[in-house]
Amino acid sequence: MPVTVAQNPFIGPRPISKDEPIFGRDEEINRLTHLLLAERIVLLYSPSGAGKSSLIHAGLLRSLTEETEDDFYLPPTIGLSITASSAAPGPSLFSEAVIRSLERAGPANGSTGKIDSIEEYLRSHLKKSANGRCICLVFDQFEECVTFLPGQEAAKSAFFLDLARTLADPNVWALFAVREDFLAPIIDLGRVLPTRFKQAFRLDFLSKSRAQEVIQKTAHLGHYEFAAAALEQLVNDLAIVNVQGVDGTFSSSLCTSRLPADTLSKGYRKGQRRSKSGIWSVRQTEVRDRKAVSMTRSPPITKMSSPKSPKTTRHANGT
Ligand SMILES: Nc1ncnc2c1ncn2[C@@H]1O[C@H](COP(=O)(O)OP(=O)(O)O)[C@@H](O)[C@H]1O
Ligand SMILES: [Mg+2]
Repeated sequence: MPVTVAQNPFIGPRPISKDEPIFGRDEEINRLTHLLLAERIVLLYSPSGAGKSSLIHAGLLRSLTEETEDDFYLPPTIGLSITASSAAPGPSLFSEAVIRSLERAGPANGSTGKIDSIEEYLRSHLKKSANGRCICLVFDQFEECVTFLPGQEAAKSAFFLDLARTLADPNVWALFAVREDFLAPIIDLGRVLPTRFKQAFRLDFLSKSRAQEVIQKTAHLGHYEFAAAALEQLVNDLAIVNVQGVDGTFSSSLCTSRLPADTLSKGYRKGQRRSKSGIWSVRQTEVRDRKAVSMTRSPPITKMSSPKSPKTTRHANGT
């Protein structure tokens, strides 16, 4: 009979959202916040699944608000594909997608009507909403400007020129989060931007020790605790990704998307202390509510075939 748990704190394969806690990334949140504040335009890159969206939503945005004492206007995070998919092809396709994305929270100061450039939207709407504060535009999954609607070269060039004019305003900050496989075409398109993407920040996969910390702290949210040996074994089993560091050495890291969403439902629960290997155990310290809850299941584990090398791009942030 299934054992019930009050609450499964492992959220499963989706980014951590702004109201949820994020563990194991304090240092990166701190460094990225200061790099962005100092440099104004920053490219955040990592392999897919390393945790960019989570870092932005659950860490960076809060940290920016705190650091600047609310002196930054932070419109909704910008995504291109959802909104671009319904747009009619044309030279302002991507700019219109950005404007619609910014308006998800509701049109600021009236409808945008015919506005088809971000620069104009900045002047006519964002500045009013910002009310004298600096504005920080956050583009997540920015590689979509390359992957989405391939062949729209003229629209892409027009989009980057529009971005360049928008970012010429010294009161506008911008963070672009990108999958590192798409860095080359994006840096190429970004040559028209004021800083030419000179400032970049690479987010690594979690190291094994950080992954242990993340799993244990997350388990604590649900009033569970992993025995040390179980935790170590779990992380060893999950860490099948070999990552080459910037110094050229390889180490195994944890692809965060493989964190155990269903850990508590699979044999790590109280009453099921042993698995086939005999060492899995989890101590349930407290269960507030014994009603069964449905738990998100992780996707099947797949091995990544070859290590991804960050060799093509240097750490512009000096680490
Ligand atoms: N610090 C973290 N702690 C626990 N899980 C994380 C952390 N960062 C990311 N994840 C998980 O890893 C997966 C991939 O994260 P995501 O932010 O979508 O990565 P990316 O945007 O780089 O593709 C998601 O399931 C998310 O919940
Ligand atoms: Mg993402």
